[in-house]
Amino acid sequence: MASTADGDSPLLVERSDGRVVATLSRPDKRNAIDQATIDALHELCAELEAEPRTLILTGAAGVFAAGADIAELRERRAADALRGINAYAFIRVAELPMPVIAAIDGYALGGGAELAYAADIRIGTPSLAIGNPETGLGILAAAGASWRLKEIVGDARATELLLTGRTVTAEEALRIGLVSSLHDSSDLLTAAHAIADRIARNDRAATIATKRVFRAPRDRHPSVDLEAQAELFESPEKFRRMTDFLERRRRTHEGERV
Ligand code: COA
Repeated sequence: MASTADGDSPLLVERSDGRVVATLSRPDKRNAIDQATIDALHELCAELEAEPRTLILTGAAGVFAAGADIAELRERRAADALRGINAYAFIRVAELPMPVIAAIDGYALGGGAELAYAADIRIGTPSLAIGNPETGLGILAAAGASWRLKEIVGDARATELLLTGRTVTAEEALRIGLVSSLHDSSDLLTAAHAIADRIARNDRAATIATKRVFRAPRDRHPSVDLEAQAELFESPEKFRRMTDFLERRRRTHEGERV
């Protein structure tokens, strides 16, 4: 795997054919998301918008991210809140053309949890501890939790979690669909790559269309689905894949007759 990671960057980026692994890396601060991390995320998003690839997001040293950087957060004022520093970065991550997989070990709190909610697929480890303690710090979870968490776990659970600020364990996260599977820490990245491999076997244009259509607002359906399908119905890859299938079936039937 080619790596162009800058050792001092809060986001270590490894690139290989068809995918990118980005590791939040401020281990001394439990990977707390500071302005430098947000800048690096924007830079990565610009790259993945220009050249779409599956993104695996993870964290260094057994932690995903223990939240936004509280030292920076304490100094931010009303005008900073209105700039939506984390919110807009996470929206950009969520809107990347190809799938985003969050591989979450250990703490994913506050902004760390919200970054994970922005992913299309989340997997965790038995030490996962995910939640939004923001109200305990005198703020609200304004970088996606108030709309994404209810889309993931439903209104009643999301309200309870946001109003109590409690941390969800791995087992509960799996039960409520906040993560889709659990893996030992040592297997987490392998599991994330296996998901990326599975995605890579499918047609790329169909994957991009599926993500875009899935995320379209309710009132754009079904026209957004049908327009995307119209494009795919004309694609050479659709004819190739369907012909392959039909040819395989024909050969199987011929083999049965012999
Ligand atoms: N922002 C800034 N610094 C953070 C941080 C955050 N969100 N979370 C952890 N850190 C820093 C600590 O200040 C400490 O730095 P120091 O050694 O310079 O004092 C270092 O990371 C290690 O943290 P520590 O609390 O000693 O680690 P721990 O393993 O005992 O506990 C946590 C881990 C995640 C339970 C604990 O750090 C914590 O509660 N963090 C804040 C979580 C939070 O409220 N997040 C929401 C923010 S919106």
